[in-house]
Amino acid sequence: MLLIIITLSISVQGTYYSLLPLQSITLRIIMGNCCVSKSGDDDEDSYHHKVNFASGNVHLITTQERWEEKLAEAKRDSKIIVANFSASWCGPCRMLAPLFGELSEKYPTLMFLTVDVDDLPELSSSLDIRATPTFFFLKDGQLIDKLVGANKLELLKKIPAVLDSAKQS
Ligand SMILES: *[C@@H]1O[C@H](CO)[C@@H](O)[C@H](O)[C@H]1NC(C)=O
Repeated sequence: MLLIIITLSISVQGTYYSLLPLQSITLRIIMGNCCVSKSGDDDEDSYHHKVNFASGNVHLITTQERWEEKLAEAKRDSKIIVANFSASWCGPCRMLAPLFGELSEKYPTLMFLTVDVDDLPELSSSLDIRATPTFFFLKDGQLIDKLVGANKLELLKKIPAVLDSAKQS
């Protein structure tokens, strides 16, 4: 059914962009309530997205100052940072948000951050982020590992691995 609609919209519109709204509707269906605001008086959609994906102990970073603050805090508490660099329009990025929230509760010794690359373009380009999502693992401000792509299994594996390697050093 969906395929038919997609095919139709391609042939009718002849443009890729016609897929975008469809794609996000599909995602919402797949993801259930994750990103759909439940309150009737939703003022700004993107606001609700942000609130939802910053679940658990995930901190949302929207300014350079906040990023630096968190870096300093992590250094002080010798916490490893797991930072999600992505964009709110990136479908695969959103899919991992509930897992990211859960992991942040499971691993309180790590600091989980979410950075919207559109909010912080300079930071993102200084870190050489070319694809979303990119997960950065930072220790004392240094990059110790990274994961490019919305790969659930890899993310699940990387986190304990990073913790282990930190213990050893
Ligand atoms: C990462 O951040 C983006 C927005 O910046 C968000 O849409 C996405 O859900 C986040 N992903 C995870 C795994 O938290």
